Amino acid sequence: MATILRQHAEQLFAEELEELHKQDSDKRPQNWKLSPQSVVTYLIGGKLKNGFEITPKYIGNKRLMEIAVATLTTDRALLLYGLPGTAKSWVSEHLAAAISGDSTLIIQGTAGTSEESVRYGWNYAKLLAEGPSENALVETPVVRAMKDGKIARIEELTRIGADVQDTLITILSEKTLPVPELNIEVQAIRGFNIIATANNRDKGVNELSSALKRRFNTVILPVPDSIEEEIDIVKRRVESFEKIMELPAEPPALKEIRRIVTIFREMRSGVTIDGKTKIKIPSGSLSTAEAISVVNNGLAMAAYFGDGQLNAADLAAGIIGSIVKDPVQDKIVWLEYLETVVKPREDWKDIYRACRDMGS
Ligand SMILES: Nc1ncnc2c1ncn2[C@@H]1O[C@H](COP(=O)(O)OP(=O)(O)OP(=O)(O)O)[C@@H](O)[C@H]1O
Ligand SMILES: [Mg+2]
Repeated sequence: MATILRQHAEQLFAEELEELHKQDSDKRPQNWKLSPQSVVTYLIGGKLKNGFEITPKYIGNKRLMEIAVATLTTDRALLLYGLPGTAKSWVSEHLAAAISGDSTLIIQGTAGTSEESVRYGWNYAKLLAEGPSENALVETPVVRAMKDGKIARIEELTRIGADVQDTLITILSEKTLPVPELNIEVQAIRGFNIIATANNRDKGVNELSSALKRRFNTVILPVPDSIEEEIDIVKRRVESFEKIMELPAEPPALKEIRRIVTIFREMRSGVTIDGKTKIKIPSGSLSTAEAISVVNNGLAMAAYFGDGQLNAADLAAGIIGSIVKDPVQDKIVWLEYLETVVKPREDWKDIYRACRDMGS
């Protein structure tokens, strides 16, 4: 049987969700699969009364998750906002999975997202054959979420044109969607809400109108506070990647992950961890997500073209690729870092060599 490449959160964590459901003694809002408290436990992780272990999905401030979950119980929608790679989409998926048992009601926002893909469209074959009827209506994920009392997800809300974004206003304030062609309306049932994500680095984004902004509570997801937290995130994500991809490689040594995360944090903040040396900042966004893929790529290199053990040579290409986005400016920044920070570190000689061998 063919294996699904990537399972939805509710499939992958079905057992955890089931246990949480069984143990849940708190009150659940209508049409929620779990109580708000259990949704937060699902996100942050913890041990249930019967000893069952819930793995953490979001690593960071619990309070942020409480605010996000509490928002979804109100008449306001939730906007997860922040830098690229700060787990906005990840948190949105897990919230929808835990609350509605369904993370698939999703609209990807682009400059080309039309009103029809937010509200409803028509099946033109049916429309021509039968005339306008509910049968000819094409429901969007938002409409299905309204009808089923579930969470709809809108990815990259601010990439959608401002006029199309504003079609959400009636849906969010009146919880209803008029279909004038049929003289009907779709009224949302309880449990319906929207989680949108947006990042504040993209160029050419469309700011939310203030009318729409008022319908959202914004939760800003920060880059990880401490290096230990970031190492923990990378370690967990890489482990699960390795398991899913069935890579014939040893799990990466913590030391390697620490070095990658150190490089990323130093270059992101413009100063070395010990606070002693200033560094120029490259143009790209060096997010945790990028650190994760550098390690993942390194593991694939180690598995197929190395000795199965992640080492500096496997990582070099990935490190350079993620830092040098602009071939001229970033290259200068990177070389300076390599010479002034990497080279003098006693136990980093292998990284220095490997990066030098890559031609930088
Ligand atoms: N604090 C965190 N806790 C757990 N995982 C994290 C955290 N920060 C980043 N990640 C991981 O980073 C990866 C990327 O996250 P995600 O795609 O959700 O980012 P995003 O904020 O939606 O970025 P973008 O703005 O580019 O869409 C995910 O695999 C996620 O697990
Ligand atoms: Mg995203």
